[in-house]
Amino acid sequence: MQKREVNVLKNFWYACEFSSVITDKPKRVPLLSQQFVLYRNSQKQVVAFLDQCPHRGAALSNGWLENDCIRCPYHGWKYQADGTCIEIPANQPGVPISKKARLITYPVQEKYGFVWLFWGDLPQRECPPLPSFPEVKDPTLRSVQFEFKWNAHYTRLVENSIDPAHSAFVHANSFGSGMTQQPQLPEYEANLEDWGGSSLIHLKQHIPKGIFWKYTHRKNHSEIKTIRSFYMPNIIYSNFERFITFVVHVPIDEHTTISKFIQFRSFLTQPSGRTHGISETPAG
Ligand code: FES
Repeated sequence: MQKREVNVLKNFWYACEFSSVITDKPKRVPLLSQQFVLYRNSQKQVVAFLDQCPHRGAALSNGWLENDCIRCPYHGWKYQADGTCIEIPANQPGVPISKKARLITYPVQEKYGFVWLFWGDLPQRECPPLPSFPEVKDPTLRSVQFEFKWNAHYTRLVENSIDPAHSAFVHANSFGSGMTQQPQLPEYEANLEDWGGSSLIHLKQHIPKGIFWKYTHRKNHSEIKTIRSFYMPNIIYSNFERFITFVVHVPIDEHTTISKFIQFRSFLTQPSGRTHGISETPAG
């Protein structure tokens, strides 16, 4: 079955992977109904190509790095970080390499613990910048990262993330437990910005279940200040009393989304190792 191109807004930066998992080993990264290959060069910069060799279409993510160049695993063509092919092993010495033998490259940047890839066709200076979240730079915070895969379009995940009313029902046994007796939401205002917006809600509720809340609330009834923000096209930020959750809903294809979370907390800051796909890293 042919995959349909995911319906997205093209000229935005898209977070596609956690920074911490991009190394000097080429990694296949799905995004926007495409397959990309990402790696980190010796200067620690991330390089991104379409994961398709222009020769016979092999996946470069199965190849390897040599002196910051990527070597295709099929016939061994070797490409520089700017996409230029500099070696075709089957050629006799002196045979020129066609200009068509080059990879498609994409701009990338790293911020807030993610690699962001630009897939659009506008000059970058005309594109919406990444929103600013100075709080997540706090070196005293401990960060934890994890991800979930959904059989849903990414806009459904965005909608869910900014919908506080479902917590009393869907999350009644965890962080929404404090709302089950009092699911009414107070009136609140949304502050709109150029490419997104935020809401500030003061929730009066019982302490939710879960160990983390014991570190943030001492009383049985407490007002919890919650900030939720959404930025185009798929960025969600929430701040619950210094418990910050940063989510990007990565559009894989029309029916699949991977939500990548980085949570920052100001308590329980000692690392506890890696368990069940959750990894802990310093904030930054
Ligand atoms: S398919 Fe990559 S070198 Fe032939």
